[in-house]
Amino acid sequence: MMDTPICDFVKTYSESRNIRLHMPGHKGVPVLGPEDRDITEIDGADNLYAPDGIIKASENNASALFGCRTYYSTEGSSLCIRAMLCLALGAKCSASIRPVVLAARNAHKTFITAAALLDFDVHWIYPGAQDSYHSITLTPAMVEQGLQSSAILPSAVYITSPDYLGKIADIRAIAEVCHRYDVPLLIDNAHGAYLRFLPESLHPMDLGADMCCDSAHKTLPVLTGGAYLHVGGRFAGLGAQAVKNALSLFGSTSPSYLILQSLDLANPYMETLPDRLSAMLPDIYSLKSELSSHGFTLCGQEPLKLTLSMAGYGYTGDEAADILRSQGIVCEFHDRDFLVFMLTPQNDTADLEALKKALLSLPKKEKRVPPTFSFSAPKQAISIREAYFQPSEELPVSKCAGRILALPNVGCPPAVPIVMCGELIDDDAIRLFHYYNMEFCTVVRESDYS
Ligand SMILES: Cc1ncc(COP(=O)(O)O)c(C=O)c1O
Repeated sequence: MMDTPICDFVKTYSESRNIRLHMPGHKGVPVLGPEDRDITEIDGADNLYAPDGIIKASENNASALFGCRTYYSTEGSSLCIRAMLCLALGAKCSASIRPVVLAARNAHKTFITAAALLDFDVHWIYPGAQDSYHSITLTPAMVEQGLQSSAILPSAVYITSPDYLGKIADIRAIAEVCHRYDVPLLIDNAHGAYLRFLPESLHPMDLGADMCCDSAHKTLPVLTGGAYLHVGGRFAGLGAQAVKNALSLFGSTSPSYLILQSLDLANPYMETLPDRLSAMLPDIYSLKSELSSHGFTLCGQEPLKLTLSMAGYGYTGDEAADILRSQGIVCEFHDRDFLVFMLTPQNDTADLEALKKALLSLPKKEKRVPPTFSFSAPKQAISIREAYFQPSEELPVSKCAGRILALPNVGCPPAVPIVMCGELIDDDAIRLFHYYNMEFCTVVRESDYS
């Protein structure tokens, strides 16, 4: 079994009953509970951004498990996304040309804040008629078309897979397209850390991605905030310190040792994950097929996610979520159309049974016909960075037609913007804001931009 050097160090330290004349201020005295194990960079505890001891050894364990260079984040995939874009841009930056990233439009808000911080432009790949703003059926042909139509060769292609509804893109074929154009492929794999441990790996790094992030906390038994940045492919030659420098550019100088211990403990857990998944997946597949034969419409290919499109069953996702919550079952995400459940081997068969019973006891009603919306690509008036840092004001959505969006207004989850910063808000967008119950937008102040 893999060792756990960070946990071992903290355990020994806490048992030694030292007088703690260092941070944190709680001095290990339990108030919430885990304070005793919440330490800082004392001698021997290593340094996340220049590791040469227990953190380096633990990251080496994670790297062996994922088969590429793996670095820890205690600030989620959000930190990894900023760092990987910084690294990709750094590799191709030129003083005279504004960098561009080709990205699928269902990007998480963090991608937009990264564009504001790093000041790059985005060439978007838009959803098709059958898609929604938070889920795109992305094909290699769409990526190739995006690369061909981009005025300058992008610094990277950036896609979200799996997306919030559990749709998985054909990473292998998309990587082949990107590499033919000599462009690296970055994947937001926040929802897919476990994909590496399926009977046949679906992890982006095994399918040709050059960098990706995984939120360990989303699908592994890791405390919220624990995440991985994986580096390989075209970036395999990047030195560890260059990656650490990019992470530390955006990260706190006080990483949480509780989260580091949780990531450390996840290593021996991941060694057992293939067996745990093999034991659980047949039950999930049989739940999915029973629901489908009962008339539910299932979406997405992600094995551990159960996504239901509720219109055919006569409910909105919000209504169904309310009913389930009243029975003690809390989903990951719901909106007018969808209901998303996330399962892991930490759920037991009783959880699956309870979910099945609750869903099958929903009386089927007359089919709902959701409205169809047209969505034309909004016009980019100013750059994302300019929009972010201009003086702005918050207005009711109905007063925003023709205004420039300053800050992303998102429902969280899924934290995917409908209009991006710097874009003009048009009537199509306003109809979508109303549909998704978004009442206010922060727009650039008119006097500052007319
Ligand atoms: C698709 C996607 N990417 C990135 C993130 C950010 O991840 P984290 O919360 O680990 O920072 C999220 C969070 O929900 C997400 O859903």
